[in-house]
Amino acid sequence: MSATAIPSATNPTPHRPPGPRGLPWLGTSFMASRDSTKTLTRWARDYGDIVYYHFLDFHFYVLFHPQHIEQVLLGKTGNFIKGLTSRANPELFGNGLLTSDGDFWRRQRRLSNPAFHRESLARYADITVEEAAKLTESWKDGEKRNIHNDMMNVTLRIVLRSLFGADLREHMRVIEPALEAIMISSTGFNSIAFFLRIPTPTRKLHFLAVQKLNDIVYGLIASGREKLKSAEAAPRDGSGAKDLLTLLLTARDDEGNSMSDQQLRDEVITLLLAGHETTALNLSWTWYLLAQNPEVEQKLHAELDAVLGTRPPTVSDLPKLQYTDRVIRETLRLYPPAWRVFRRTEEPFQVGDYLLPAGSNIVLSQWVTQRDPRWFTEPERFNPDRWSEEAAAKLPRFAYFPFGGGPRVCIGAGFAMMEAILLLATIAQRYRIRLAPHQRVEPLASITLRPKKGIRVTLEERMRAPISSDRTSGAKVHSA
Ligand code: HEM
Repeated sequence: MSATAIPSATNPTPHRPPGPRGLPWLGTSFMASRDSTKTLTRWARDYGDIVYYHFLDFHFYVLFHPQHIEQVLLGKTGNFIKGLTSRANPELFGNGLLTSDGDFWRRQRRLSNPAFHRESLARYADITVEEAAKLTESWKDGEKRNIHNDMMNVTLRIVLRSLFGADLREHMRVIEPALEAIMISSTGFNSIAFFLRIPTPTRKLHFLAVQKLNDIVYGLIASGREKLKSAEAAPRDGSGAKDLLTLLLTARDDEGNSMSDQQLRDEVITLLLAGHETTALNLSWTWYLLAQNPEVEQKLHAELDAVLGTRPPTVSDLPKLQYTDRVIRETLRLYPPAWRVFRRTEEPFQVGDYLLPAGSNIVLSQWVTQRDPRWFTEPERFNPDRWSEEAAAKLPRFAYFPFGGGPRVCIGAGFAMMEAILLLATIAQRYRIRLAPHQRVEPLASITLRPKKGIRVTLEERMRAPISSDRTSGAKVHSA
């Protein structure tokens, strides 16, 4: 990859960076290619740090350099908006945190922040360890499984219980296929057809799925309001801890206004979609990488044995599970579940040698930047030790941004890290995950980066169920 020249008086500002031409009139899009991550990597290699392409009337600039990424993510508030690409699906996300902009987004972010404070995270940690333990108790030594399905299932249970405070077993049968239909409609050519509003069968199934999710979520909002009205309202578990929906239902802005049902629906569905598959993918890719790197796996087991012995982890173990944390961070570098981010400039934007016109679409790619050899030695190697404090401090800011950055940084980053570390610790304590032979595990770059056909594995028991004098207190959460 070539570095971008610094603009100077003798170097006039051209308007159009190099990039693939694509077809006349239509142009091109990495989203329509068979392998979007490979296409983006090739563009970075062939054209440099700033790449231009167009698709129909939409003009895109892909920025690969950390300094340019910083300019966008920390740029003047209001200049870089989510824009058209993330509004391609208003029926699904509505005006939720992920897609809204301006003062409305700021208000919603302020209202939602308390749901992600430390006390709330401690409660979600409790749920995480319980669900991880339930999963491993259902497994058997020598069993063959698709580990990605297991991770999708367990993270869905965790996010649903964290959101609604209840085990929604009967709803899972509707929610799981609905989420699957939504994911299919946002993959490859389906996503282009969706963007262009072409009436395909996939599109029809997508809207049916959104309707089903709406029915469930509006029902849960109504019963949440009812419960709040009644005497036993919140707190539900007697410890002052509340589920996410209750926190959003009771949130008030500076004028004392609360969220409408429609707004609650948009936020809840956004959290469900943003918080479920991303964490599942982080774990699925972790198992994939661990199975191929036995020396890393050994170090992980050594830490778990030293810190936890035979008892289940709790949230207060998190500061001690440093290597476990590094394993998760390193997986997020190599297989970032959110592998690209879109923005639109509201004003002209000077970046490197180029002045991009207002209305330009900007693409940042975690996949490409986080594998760039300029910032990461042996970038393809799974090496959690690169996250030691000393080594990590040498990295340029935004060479690594799996959770985005700046004001629009992932609101669930703390939740996701806690959840991933505790899931990994609880499961790896009991089981080794071995890859089934004769399979090609390939990333499929859809909205998220998924293993195309899942990951088939064989389970190998390391330890019987963790022993604790009292199972519930074993999984109990103390404030970190
Ligand atoms: C490994 C797991 C996760 C990854 C990799 C991830 C990644 C990201 C990224 C890259 C963004 C920024 C998008 C942008 O700038 O356009 C984002 C935003 C967001 N994420 Fe996450 N996320 C994860 C887990 C979660 C969880 C667990 C939740 C909630 C329960 C969540 C909720 C959100 C929301 C609501 C936003 C929008 C925030 C805003 O714009 O104010 N995410 N996430």
